[in-house]
Amino acid sequence: MSGEDRSFSGREIAAFATFSVLAVLLGVGAYQIGYHRISGHQAGGASMAATQGAAPINGQTLFASNCAGCHGATGGGGVGPNLKTAAGWALPDFGEAVLHGNAPGGRKLSAVMPHFAQQGLDGEPPTDKQIKAIHDYLAGVK
Ligand code: HEC
Repeated sequence: MSGEDRSFSGREIAAFATFSVLAVLLGVGAYQIGYHRISGHQAGGASMAATQGAAPINGQTLFASNCAGCHGATGGGGVGPNLKTAAGWALPDFGEAVLHGNAPGGRKLSAVMPHFAQQGLDGEPPTDKQIKAIHDYLAGVK
């Protein structure tokens, strides 16, 4: 009898206690990660809605979120070409390229370049003011 009792005390109890503590810690950790994900998501959604409603149009921000992934952080080129030349195009030409994929001289841009009239800027239908803001931004950094 006392032999069996001994087998349940000491190391086994310590191991069980350690396991329980770890299980609780893991549970709390997982709960907190989930909690932060959810609350972070909600806060992000709210601030985005506020930005779209109130913030002035910012060419740099628009470029960063819609174009920089392909054309480089300041339009220096990447998957898409350097936009130095396009920064010098007349605004209507620039708009036609960005919105419909038609470059000056009847040149069709490849399908890799999105047609932003359909795709939208930041998920919203693009406005003339936004196109002008992006054009002004590029003219400023080029
Ligand atoms: C998915 C990648 C991608 C995104 C995002 C993208 N572009 Fe492009 N863009 C390209 C590629 C590739 C070309 C080259 C197409 C060709 O020459 O046929 C191009 C070409 C252009 C051109 C013509 C440049 C020239 O000199 O011929 C302009 C202007 C342009 N993009 C502006 C923009 C703007 C402004 C945005 C954001 C609103 C944007 N692009 C977003 C890939 C992209």
